[in-house]
Amino acid sequence: MRNGIFITFEGLDGSGKTTQIRRLTTWLAHRGIEPTVLRQPGGTPAGDRIRGLLLDSRGSAIAPMAEMALMFADRAQAIAEVIQPALDAGKIVICDRFTDSTEAYQGGGRQLGSQLVLDLHRLVCGGLMPDLTLLLLPGFEASLARARHRNLCAEAESGIDEGRFEAEQDIFYRRVWEKYREIARREPERVVTIEGNLAIDEVHEQIVEAVAERLLTAARTA
Ligand code: TYD
Repeated sequence: MRNGIFITFEGLDGSGKTTQIRRLTTWLAHRGIEPTVLRQPGGTPAGDRIRGLLLDSRGSAIAPMAEMALMFADRAQAIAEVIQPALDAGKIVICDRFTDSTEAYQGGGRQLGSQLVLDLHRLVCGGLMPDLTLLLLPGFEASLARARHRNLCAEAESGIDEGRFEAEQDIFYRRVWEKYREIARREPERVVTIEGNLAIDEVHEQIVEAVAERLLTAARTA
């Protein structure tokens, strides 16, 4: 059974997802809706351990296939433990990254290709697809600079190193960027792309518009 609404956020590191997820959660709360919010990798106790393994830049020897398999191991756990039960209970689930990230980063960035990722998604995730994906694509240079700066500050503050991906070359991120655009072109119904260097409020408004439309559709078909 599945009555809830599954919303994912996607984009390059530093694209402003965290801020926008917070804004959307507050907007929903003002309307009496309390969504289930999680991030990938992570979001469950086992997933948080996988996250540590994946994002620590000292662990840079992880092979691309192993990296992809770990992303799916994390996702399988999150679906079983958090996402599916919440959807079955009729909740709105907001997930910071999902399989589109694997297609963009491992399929595109690491050049494993889309087909492998989509096949694994079908097998491991039972084909669970978001109802709506909000793809944030601000200017390429600006988001990269922001992600690198943010990671340095976070590491200095917490001592936790999550910079393995941000240490990648610009060419890697170009491929990630291109793959995201390809996904958006392939699935225009599901993926709403918010592009350009917009103000936080402007991005929020576009997100709210897309979410409100899905909420109305869900209410009509309930
Ligand atoms: P995180 O610190 O959560 O970045 P952000 O706040 O930008 O989302 O780190 C997640 C990193 O993991 C990010 O660089 C993207 C990468 N990633 C993949 O490569 N494949 C995946 O399937 C997922 C979910 C994340």
